[in-house]
Amino acid sequence: MGAEALLLLCLLFALLLVSLKMYKKKAQLPPGPTPWFLLGNLLQKDVLPLSKNYAKLFEKWGPIFTVWMGPKPMVVLCGYEVVKDALLDHAEEFSGRPVLPFSDAVNRYKGQAFDLRKYTRIAISNVICSVVFGSRFEYKDQVLQEMLRIIEDFVSYLVSYMGQIYNVFPKIMPYLPGQHKKIFGDFEKMYAFINEKVESHRETLDYQDPRDYIDCFLMKSEKEQTDPEAIYTIEELIISVQELFIAGSLSTSEVLACALLVMARLPHIQEKVQQEIDDVVGANRIAGMEDRVRMPYTNAVLHEVHRYQKGSLESIPRQTTRPIKFQGYLIPQGTTVCPEIATVHFDPLHWENPEEFDPGHFLDEKGQFRNRVAFMPFSAGKRACPGEALARMELFLFFSALLQNFTFQLIGDAKDKDIFTLYEDSGLKTGDLPLKFIRRSI
Ligand code: HEM
Repeated sequence: MGAEALLLLCLLFALLLVSLKMYKKKAQLPPGPTPWFLLGNLLQKDVLPLSKNYAKLFEKWGPIFTVWMGPKPMVVLCGYEVVKDALLDHAEEFSGRPVLPFSDAVNRYKGQAFDLRKYTRIAISNVICSVVFGSRFEYKDQVLQEMLRIIEDFVSYLVSYMGQIYNVFPKIMPYLPGQHKKIFGDFEKMYAFINEKVESHRETLDYQDPRDYIDCFLMKSEKEQTDPEAIYTIEELIISVQELFIAGSLSTSEVLACALLVMARLPHIQEKVQQEIDDVVGANRIAGMEDRVRMPYTNAVLHEVHRYQKGSLESIPRQTTRPIKFQGYLIPQGTTVCPEIATVHFDPLHWENPEEFDPGHFLDEKGQFRNRVAFMPFSAGKRACPGEALARMELFLFFSALLQNFTFQLIGDAKDKDIFTLYEDSGLKTGDLPLKFIRRSI
């Protein structure tokens, strides 16, 4: 037998092994749309992206089903009962986080038209900068603008089709040309920038007076210096700063942008919010956190904006930390699990008018704010978002200050679009939101 025939035989054998493994796993997991060999459901437009197809899949397969990201399965959880059962009642077993090869590769790489979002992004990132670096940046600062551009490119790639393909074929993709190469280069710049900040913190660290997150981390790492398994290393510090920056910058400003689009789309709701701001805060100061309890309508509107979002960012996958018997299936350790938060937020068993934008979902009969169990935009359980309290404060303060001073209106063909289309068209993009804003005389 010639070398080429032998090679072909080996290749066929390897493919056979992969497909046997895939179909063996498939038999154990919850059912779902049939995967193609090796590619899984990747190229099936009626399955992925999940954010567009989960409703039909839920209808067909029930609240727990499996989709295949290439040869790897991902168990999808839908509806309040199942998501709560996983994230809260089995918090430990579902507390893992799968390695997303693309983020991992990036982390290891050291390496009246008016663009309102550009400014809200900078303002919101500056809050993270104060916590992490102990200082904020000017709005025109080139370094901050460059960092935000890098994060934006990274997140857009991660949730794109090519990002999913990278995660499925992490061994091949680095050798192919494409946007990922540029992102690696960009992250080298970001790494160098954070490294510089860490160095300057090290030189000026005062143990009696820690200034920020970096100082606290450095103090902890000094204490652990002799421990061979120390986790507070400089490498970890830089990666964690990078992650805080990525997680804390875009998410909050995207929700804020959505809130303004909804206000422009539903002027009667915008008017009621403005009325409440005028009554409680007036014209001579801006709202503070202490005002929130006295502004139930504004608070309810912000919660409803969160509930009504069906985006690509909200469902970050988990991983099982041990084998678990769950909802009648034995899910092996290390399986990727995706709680589809939008299915909780549109669960007809928990919401009176799930398909309607209705702040009343968060108000009791006396018009007071009420929390809802099936509301979890920051997820729930062990790996829930650690930035929730900060994000909620930022949203309330920015939103009420903007509505106190401006009225928002849609422009151009956006006037005829429904809220979901407005969200979808403007999500994670740079450039103008289709809004004009008119200064209020207060
Ligand atoms: C409106 C704004 C935000 C939303 C909707 C949001 C939502 C989420 C969600 C759904 C998760 C996944 C949690 C899970 O798997 O259970 C998450 C994780 C995370 N968020 Fe946020 N987040 C927001 C703002 C922030 C902010 C401001 C920060 C930083 C200060 C932050 C830091 C993080 C981090 C570090 C994680 C990963 C936690 C882990 O893996 O254990 N987030 N966020």
